[in-house]
Amino acid sequence: MAGNKPISQVTIIGTGVIGASWATLFLAKGLDVVATDIAPNAEASLRGFVDGAWPALERLGLTPGASKLRLVFTADLAEAVKGAHLVQENGPERIDFKKKLYGQLDEMLPPDVVIASSSSGLTMSEIQSGCPFHPERCVIAHPFNPPHLIPLVEIVGGAKTSEETIRRASEFYTALGKRTVRLHKEVPGHVANRLQAALAREVYHLVGEGVVSVADVDTALCWGPGLRWGIMGQVLLNHLGGGQGGMEHFLEQFTGPMTAWWKVLGSPELTPELQQKLIAGVHAEVGSRSIDDLAAERDEVLLGLLELRANTAGGGAHSE
Ligand SMILES: NC(=O)c1ccc[n+]([C@@H]2O[C@H](COP(=O)([O-])OP(=O)(O)OC[C@H]3O[C@@H](n4cnc5c(N)ncnc54)[C@H](O)[C@@H]3O)[C@@H](O)[C@H]2O)c1
Repeated sequence: MAGNKPISQVTIIGTGVIGASWATLFLAKGLDVVATDIAPNAEASLRGFVDGAWPALERLGLTPGASKLRLVFTADLAEAVKGAHLVQENGPERIDFKKKLYGQLDEMLPPDVVIASSSSGLTMSEIQSGCPFHPERCVIAHPFNPPHLIPLVEIVGGAKTSEETIRRASEFYTALGKRTVRLHKEVPGHVANRLQAALAREVYHLVGEGVVSVADVDTALCWGPGLRWGIMGQVLLNHLGGGQGGMEHFLEQFTGPMTAWWKVLGSPELTPELQQKLIAGVHAEVGSRSIDDLAAERDEVLLGLLELRANTAGGGAHSE
């Protein structure tokens, strides 16, 4: 793969929740974006999303030359990928769908075009098995919702992905201001979703056992550990938890109690009763706030935190 062509034109395939958000970010970073989707009202809802999200990106700072006018929509896949330097694929999370689509893309695109999948949990080894010609240019670049605001992108290749593709993808997202992490092995759910799943399992267990209400378990998380997790990761926080003795002292002191708790962590079955309890509990927590109200509340605080973090040197993890 001829590897150093600058990436200035991106094709977005699938403009649902994640594709629309990626499109907005790429436009805000001054790229040309061509988007495609098969849903009948896709273009209108994409443009509506971009308009709604644009003020937040203006607040965070647009790249010179960035414009919503640089968004083109076409329902035709072959038309959409013409001239693309990178494709960000955000279609349905189904292996049969992705394999077939990657086979088509592999035929349509020159070999130096990177094909990046937003897939939350499928492996690239499986997806790229649909590519007859150049599977080495396919990579997972998994964002966190909403990708126009949340910096994390997890990068992981499949068995046939080249190091050059990993490098080009990492450089591309990093240059856009994203925080990339590289996974050295494929695991279902990648890393961040596995961390969420581990936590959700215990949250649902505690509610199911009647230890705590939904509202209180959410409060315990977001007004306690969650506040710190927005700044530093688990291991760095443990290092601080050990005081001047750092991680060495933390492990000395907490290995016993912590591993004893591991043995009693729950693994709940999501029975209809537990699902009902979670649903009733979250509605009680939400009160009269709509989904849009909640998303606006989340994004307002998130923007403040992102601005604060952008202005604060150090803190948190440094990438390798
Ligand atoms: N929702 C999340 O929180 C989240 C987070 C990170 C990654 N992802 C991943 O992103 C991908 C998309 O998820 P989503 O939540 O945006 O789903 P979504 O259902 O909101 O969007 C999928 C879009 O793909 C379109 N589509 C279907 N067939 C198509 C085709 N042949 N050509 C073009 N478009 C087509 C649909 O019309 C729809 O608009 C999935 O792989 C998912 O795992 C989702």
